Amino acid sequence: MESFTVGLGSRSYDIVLGIGLLDQPRAFEGVRDAALAVVVTNTTVAPLYAAELVQCLGRRHGRIHTIRLPDGESHKTWPTLNLVFDELLSLGADRKTILYALGGGVIGDITGFAAACYMRGIDFVQVPTTLLAQVDSSVGGKTGINHPRGKNMIGAFHQPLRVIADLDTLRTLPEREYRAGLAEVIKYGPIADAPFLGWIESSIERLLARDVEALRHAVRRSCEIKAAVVGQDEREAGLRAILNFGHTFAHAIEAGLGFGEWLHGEAVACGMAMAADLSAAVGLLPASDADRIVRLIDRAGLPVRGPALGAGRYLQLMRVDKKAEGGAIRFVLIDRLGHAVVRGVDDAQVEAVLEARCD
Ligand code: NAD
Ligand code: GLY
Repeated sequence: MESFTVGLGSRSYDIVLGIGLLDQPRAFEGVRDAALAVVVTNTTVAPLYAAELVQCLGRRHGRIHTIRLPDGESHKTWPTLNLVFDELLSLGADRKTILYALGGGVIGDITGFAAACYMRGIDFVQVPTTLLAQVDSSVGGKTGINHPRGKNMIGAFHQPLRVIADLDTLRTLPEREYRAGLAEVIKYGPIADAPFLGWIESSIERLLARDVEALRHAVRRSCEIKAAVVGQDEREAGLRAILNFGHTFAHAIEAGLGFGEWLHGEAVACGMAMAADLSAAVGLLPASDADRIVRLIDRAGLPVRGPALGAGRYLQLMRVDKKAEGGAIRFVLIDRLGHAVVRGVDDAQVEAVLEARCD
């Protein structure tokens, strides 16, 4: 078991990473006691891990209740959020109640947002069980739900008390979900760490085979990079936007196809291929480096060609992106491997990339 800190002053917290943590009460030591704890999970993850978590929490809390939400991105909505509020109120949850988000990014985002809003803010702990959630969504305090008109449009910044990432849980993850998580691992190379990009290239076969030591390094390094970025820019005044490499295109794919059609990680993978092309098209990045990014995404078994929504529709959807200013889209681009910038690009250059990279 190892841990490191997300440094945010009074809101600092630890990410605890290891194998078999859901059997180790030690991983939860230091999380305060509560008369009521509520595990928020879904119908897929509950039968796999809810009993283990509840047992591990043991007598730390007076009473532990489990809420099982419907599974899927299409349920990351206001009605699902309201189910959590309904149950919290009927349980008599108060300001000292602690929520545990047990699941992937959808559960983490909904639970974190519920925690941010309930009685104007209660504590929560992230227990991520997907690769994507362990390397990205459980860290950094972005919480929220989708709106039919845009991805993650309704939300709040609310940091967890702790993140407990048990690598064992990744063994039951369906192959497609696992690969989707690799997209967010790959992301950290181009934006922040060229040697890490090289390591992923040379380790991709081990990662695809879920080799536990390769996974441990991938999760650790991803979390270290994310913690460093969030520690400098918690509320995305500037730097944090680089974590959205590929996401402007990705959010358009997800909203354009209907949430849940492509997995978030798949959309991010394809979005990174588009953003790499765009970085080359505007003259920031050598084409050979853009190709290197695209090749790695492809080797991870992730999509590098986008759905044929039409360039006009992509542009329309991308204007709803949270990075847009006054309707002008801003893209995360790579200006050298291991470093990203955020800037606007002429529509014509974006359209040319979309036409070349879509079916
Ligand atoms: P997800 O939460 O939908 O989980 C993927 C699937 O795997 C689900 O069906 C889930 O029930 C199942 N599952 C989870 N753990 C499992 C396990 N151990 N074994 C078997 N099945 C398991 O998807 P995700 O990829 O984890 O997260 C995507 C979401 O995260 C998106 O909504 C995205 O917007 C969000 N996100 C948020 C942030 C952030 O900073 N808050 C960052 C990145 C992504
Ligand atoms: N996943 C982007 C961020 O946390 O800022």
